[in-house]
Amino acid sequence: MLEQLSPLPADPILGLLKAYGADTNPNKVDLGVGVFKDDNGHTPILDCVKVAEQQRTDTETSKIYIGPTGEPAFNDMMTKLIFGDHAAISQNRTRTISTPGGTGSLRVAGEFIKACKPNAKIWLSNPTWANHNGLFSAAGLTVASYPYYNYETKSLDFDAMLETLSSVPAGDIVLLHACCHNPSGMDLSKEQWNQVTAIAKKNGFTPLIDMAYQGFGLGLDEDAYGPRLMASELDELLLCSSCSKNFGLYRERIGGFTLLAKDSATADTAHSVLLSVVRSIYSMPPAHGAAIVSTILGSEDLTSQWHGELAIMRERISNNRQLLVDALKAQGITRDFSFITKQSGMFSFLGITPEQVTTLIKDYSIYMVDSSRISIAGISKTNVEYLAKSIAQVIK
Ligand code: LMR
Repeated sequence: MLEQLSPLPADPILGLLKAYGADTNPNKVDLGVGVFKDDNGHTPILDCVKVAEQQRTDTETSKIYIGPTGEPAFNDMMTKLIFGDHAAISQNRTRTISTPGGTGSLRVAGEFIKACKPNAKIWLSNPTWANHNGLFSAAGLTVASYPYYNYETKSLDFDAMLETLSSVPAGDIVLLHACCHNPSGMDLSKEQWNQVTAIAKKNGFTPLIDMAYQGFGLGLDEDAYGPRLMASELDELLLCSSCSKNFGLYRERIGGFTLLAKDSATADTAHSVLLSVVRSIYSMPPAHGAAIVSTILGSEDLTSQWHGELAIMRERISNNRQLLVDALKAQGITRDFSFITKQSGMFSFLGITPEQVTTLIKDYSIYMVDSSRISIAGISKTNVEYLAKSIAQVIK
């Protein structure tokens, strides 16, 4: 069986981690995988996480199985983080389970959709996170795409997006990024969310919202505008959340999958199907990350410490956008890169060719995905001049 296999290339995003790690150039710059970095290029453990983790170690008394839903306290707190004081919670229309990270949540979503509606088509933005396509195809769904980013204007192609979404039939699924669109950094405005929600309501497709960066865009509540609006206007909504970025819990693999149904009885039935889907994939989620998050969100002090640490991460990334644009200007580059400051979250496309990306990696040890997606968090006051100078040489 194994002998007839051919080797596959490394994942386009995760492969960069290995290549960057192996590079001995002291000037190397990592703009590849979307992780927060401080000005020293380090991805720290949040202080609130350290405290919560210690409390957890001191008070945990058993490692007994947790069950397919994961920890109920985490599930309730995540629902509240996403929807705030929304009536959907008091109406008992939501069900959240813990999942192994945001990616685990997306796979659960794919399998759950397949169990509900085997022939459903899922519509992804063009472009979208490189792993979305493979994840949903692997779950057996048919994947289609709707226009999203205009590479010429470096902005949202909203008219084209709306036109395609207007033709998506009832029963299909449309994946939307709640905020910090990965990879383009172009988010929907409130008015645009209103328009997309109106089409979903009229046509009857089900939105699946990928919310991997809540708190990294404009703020925790601001980034939840789309999900909260859709919860008010629609009977059904699916949502994948992640604690990788906003709690910095990457390797703990903790996220959530939330479904919102028309009423409580429908939510119960859907939840039972969801649990059977989970049982047949990984049986139960890991508990450690969920316990850290629920310890933080269950304590006023730790929650306010977390808000402060999250704001520092958000502001650093946002400031890095201006830092890069100023540094590029200082190199005498006439090409307009100001679009980078108008985008939001962890990523933007630099807008250079795959060949130029290869040169940046090979000759300058500057790592990014070949689409020229850059992880803004990897920029620092120390490396920005080298980065801008290298880009200037490559695009001249
Ligand atoms: C990214 O897009 O870089 C992150 O979401 C990490 C990943 O798993 O790809």
